[in-house]
Amino acid sequence: MICVSKKKSYLKSQNLKIVGQGKLNGFVEISGAKNSALVLLAASLLTNEKIVLQNVPHLTDIEKMGNILKNLGVNLKEKNNTLEIDSKNISIKELPNELVNGLRASFFCIGPLLSKFGEAKVPMPGGCNIGSRPIDEHIDGLKALGAEILIEKGIVKANIKSKKSRLIGTHIKLKCPSVGATETLIMAASLAEGRTTIENAAREPEVQDLCQMLNKMGAKIYDSGKEKIIIDGVNKLGGCIHKVIPDRIEAGTFLIAAAATSSSITISPVIPNHLEAVTNKLRKSGSKITIKGNSITINPRELKAVNINTAPFPGFPTDLQAPFTALMTIANGESKITETIFENRMNHVHLLNKMGANIKLDKNVAFIKGVKTIKGMDLIASDLRSSAALIIAGITAKGSSRIYGLEHLDRGYENFETKLKILGIKITRNLNKKTVTNKEFKTSSDPADIPRCKAA
Ligand code: EPZ
Repeated sequence: MICVSKKKSYLKSQNLKIVGQGKLNGFVEISGAKNSALVLLAASLLTNEKIVLQNVPHLTDIEKMGNILKNLGVNLKEKNNTLEIDSKNISIKELPNELVNGLRASFFCIGPLLSKFGEAKVPMPGGCNIGSRPIDEHIDGLKALGAEILIEKGIVKANIKSKKSRLIGTHIKLKCPSVGATETLIMAASLAEGRTTIENAAREPEVQDLCQMLNKMGAKIYDSGKEKIIIDGVNKLGGCIHKVIPDRIEAGTFLIAAAATSSSITISPVIPNHLEAVTNKLRKSGSKITIKGNSITINPRELKAVNINTAPFPGFPTDLQAPFTALMTIANGESKITETIFENRMNHVHLLNKMGANIKLDKNVAFIKGVKTIKGMDLIASDLRSSAALIIAGITAKGSSRIYGLEHLDRGYENFETKLKILGIKITRNLNKKTVTNKEFKTSSDPADIPRCKAA
């Protein structure tokens, strides 16, 4: 079953107990990529024929996106990690607020619904714990393609101006290489009339995976992965079978956990060039990295401090900044970690300091002086990637830790503690005996100036 979090509240009432100073050993299987599967699910709305999506991870974000599609009238059958998606009977062009809440990726539906029905109504995705998450690039691009956009009471209402009830291909230059905006505009342009070029497009592997699936469906998309993508609109898209690429962020998280515990592990399947920026930094910090086909083996040596600047692909991924910061807290020397993508993605820093790390934070720059050890404690994560950082810190710490806020972790890591247990870490998921309210040990609460959170 897609991880059916029937008892939504269970996620808020569980914690992970971790015994510190653990070692990892052996092999871990990498799941399908969350940030690919989510957009591929939305893209399946573009056709009336069947889409078979393989290697779909069991995550609460995927479950939420599945519920949104079912609410639109999509017939969704799943077996293990394969989803059969049949959108021929969808009739609703409006996404209900209660389903959209907490899943920013639901906004990906606007392009397909607009090109399918000539109109769409999708609630604003809003901000979240890591930043304000604007959608101006999505809106401006859709307008350039001929959509009329009205935002009323938090609902984005879009319809196609042209009488031909098709969007019209055009040239779009993005102000920033937004992953989501690039994906929204690729999906909208795939059924538009004529050619669309997207300049300053995002080059992430998940964008490339979307283009691969759309081309299997009959789209005409060229140069995905480059800064300028060309889409020649077609009249109709068909069904296909597509396997989701491996999750490079999960893969990087395990490599970082191995480096933090001086453990040798092998991870597979991976697409090595999706992780180049990460493996290069791990090599610079002293690990030996061996790549064989679709597997990577890490053999850490002395852990040296290195500097990181997050950047759009192929730069160092922002989604691994928090786990890498946890790694640098125990490295030899001083490192500087600069978060350039999101304005509020350093929530883990003050908790790492409570564990005994020595980090000075100046806005989005963390100046880290490596320490010999940090100490385990009870901590509450408040976003997906901070959760992974705190777990890595808990595994390396002296003494044990309890990590709360698993509703964030379960959005993006499939069977995370099970995989760590198989690798030899003493980690168990338990029900909270008491509600955990100790704000002092919580990664910073929802920033007041950011509207109610949606997941990343
Ligand atoms: C995607 O978010 C991912 N989410 C994020 O993963 C990832 O961190 C991010 O790309 C960057 O790689 C999914 O794919 C579901 P962006 P997205 O649009 O599309 C600004 C995780 O942990 N921007 O590339 O929302 C924005 O403020 C999540 O798995 C605009 O200014 O990211 C940000 O500073 C977190 N206007 C920057 O661009 C816009 O219209 C990058 O955002 C859109 C974005």
